[in-house]
Amino acid sequence: MRSLYCGEVNESHIGQEITLCGWVNRRRDLGAVIFLDMRDREGIVQVVYDPDLPEVLAKANTLRNEFCVQVKGKVRARPEGQVNKDMATGGIEVLGLELTILNKSAPLPLDSNQENSEENRLKYRYLDLRRPEMTERLRFRAQVTSAVRQSLESQGFLDIETPILTAATPEGARDYLVPSRTHKGSFFALPQSPQLFKQLLMMSGMERYYQIVKCFRDEDLRADRQPEFTQIDIETSFLSADQVMAITEKMIRELFVKMLDVDLGEFPRMTYLEAMTRFGSDKPDLRNPLEIVDVADILKDVEFKVFSGPANDEKGRVAVVKVPNGNKLSRKNIDDYTKFVGIYGAKGMPWMKVNDIEAGMEGLQSPILKFLSEDAVNSLLSRVDAQTGDIIFFGSDTYNVVTEALGALRLKLGEDLGLTTDEWKPLWVVDFPMFEEVDGQFHALHHPFTAPSNMTPEELAANPAGALSDAYDMVLNGCELGGGSVRIFDQEMQSTVFRLLGISDEEAQEKFGFLLEALQYGAPPHAGLAFGLDRIVMLMTGATSIRDVMAFPKTTTAACPLTNAPGKANPAQLAELNIATIAKEDVKQD
Ligand code: AMO
Repeated sequence: MRSLYCGEVNESHIGQEITLCGWVNRRRDLGAVIFLDMRDREGIVQVVYDPDLPEVLAKANTLRNEFCVQVKGKVRARPEGQVNKDMATGGIEVLGLELTILNKSAPLPLDSNQENSEENRLKYRYLDLRRPEMTERLRFRAQVTSAVRQSLESQGFLDIETPILTAATPEGARDYLVPSRTHKGSFFALPQSPQLFKQLLMMSGMERYYQIVKCFRDEDLRADRQPEFTQIDIETSFLSADQVMAITEKMIRELFVKMLDVDLGEFPRMTYLEAMTRFGSDKPDLRNPLEIVDVADILKDVEFKVFSGPANDEKGRVAVVKVPNGNKLSRKNIDDYTKFVGIYGAKGMPWMKVNDIEAGMEGLQSPILKFLSEDAVNSLLSRVDAQTGDIIFFGSDTYNVVTEALGALRLKLGEDLGLTTDEWKPLWVVDFPMFEEVDGQFHALHHPFTAPSNMTPEELAANPAGALSDAYDMVLNGCELGGGSVRIFDQEMQSTVFRLLGISDEEAQEKFGFLLEALQYGAPPHAGLAFGLDRIVMLMTGATSIRDVMAFPKTTTAACPLTNAPGKANPAQLAELNIATIAKEDVKQD
């Protein structure tokens, strides 16, 4: 129906007759002539209808925005003075010779000039995607996917599909369940990731597997989390953690060069402990220069119990964040930041302004100054290399509260004060603890199939709290792009980890018996990683939410306003599945 795309018309077509198909982006009626901005996937071109063809002009007069049209016309240079340098096709226009209205359009329920509510954008997503900005993001995403495939396939990776109707994979979220009709009362779980299948594929001898695959997690949603998202999932045999990191780092580096002409350079590595200590996060944003500095040793003998208490408690932490030029912050600003850290459990936030570093105690301003000795203050100032104009914020509580609160504070200050730079700062975070302990129960920091670093099952069982895992996360600008690990490939180690996680042998057999059994038949050493494709595209396109780089995302309450999913099932379907639902008013509250 067309000879070329609107966005492709250029000076080389001058004098040619062409056929275009697309939508009326805008119609301008100048009385004697009508100008159309005609749009398709590739861009916008100006079409002119003039009185030389009165019938066609009359038809053009009936056009309204978003009508779908076919235009036949002749390309000509725009008259002097009408060239539009801001438009790719701004040097030419198409003199309309014929016009076919392929379909009319009702006025759109979205306003192209105003901010539309996200609910409305998602309800009319197919119209929202007509916006060039959204079209561009989906095109970019398709190019990223293609480049990833090329990179992995050139390195011998095979694209292998794994089931969507499957059994639970423990990645830390709730499962989406699908009832079985043929096995009444039984449920499939949608995969939180293809973790176990990709490990089984290594046991099948596939060596290098990848898949660009949908994963499903019923968890609290945020800007970088959706219930249904896409992973670039990778698994390899006979490769070390370093080799997997090298392959995947190369892939991401090449992707940035190809798509953005950005060289990310070699990615530095940082241990989990260092990341938590200096940045209060296992995904530190290194564009932000603020750091957390420990000062418990300096404050452990002061009379002020707020500091000396946690400083002398092995589960406590006392630390500060120094903000250069922060002494211009008002009391209101400081109160707001104090409220902010309260979200993370901090009960207050002492502060100290350095008005004149040369003037000793006189040059400082702080509600807690009177509680501190001059020696302690001097040590503190020299520890953080304080300068005139700084403000120092204190955190003093349990390790977790201080780390989380100051970690969040540094991010907020970085944004608010414009300290976070506009560059790319990738890194690997390594040496994660195997487990985190919550209320006396161990949980896997990655997943239960991650191998400990250099430990036998006996050594692990003897010191689970001190064990590090062979896991690695790739972080870019404070966002976890991907994570993976060397896997357990020994049945005894796998059983030991299950036991430490409080999974009984019976439960392990019931849920993961197939994996434990597979480990008996010559399972190879294997390691892998998965990237969040949506997150990669979000960062690369500068979008602020992964919803903006997905064609049909869900709302933050995990619903789809377009299709009204999730919806009620019809009673016949439920009966067939042996499922009864409980009316909302009858649901017992916990
Ligand atoms: P993990 O759970 O760390 O590891 O997930 C890997 C990557 O997937 C992305 N991601 C998400 N993206 C959008 N919405 C979500 N709800 C969401 N959850 C995770 C993140 C994350 O880094 N099987 C392991 C990987 C492995 O060990 O090989 C896994 O799934 O970018």
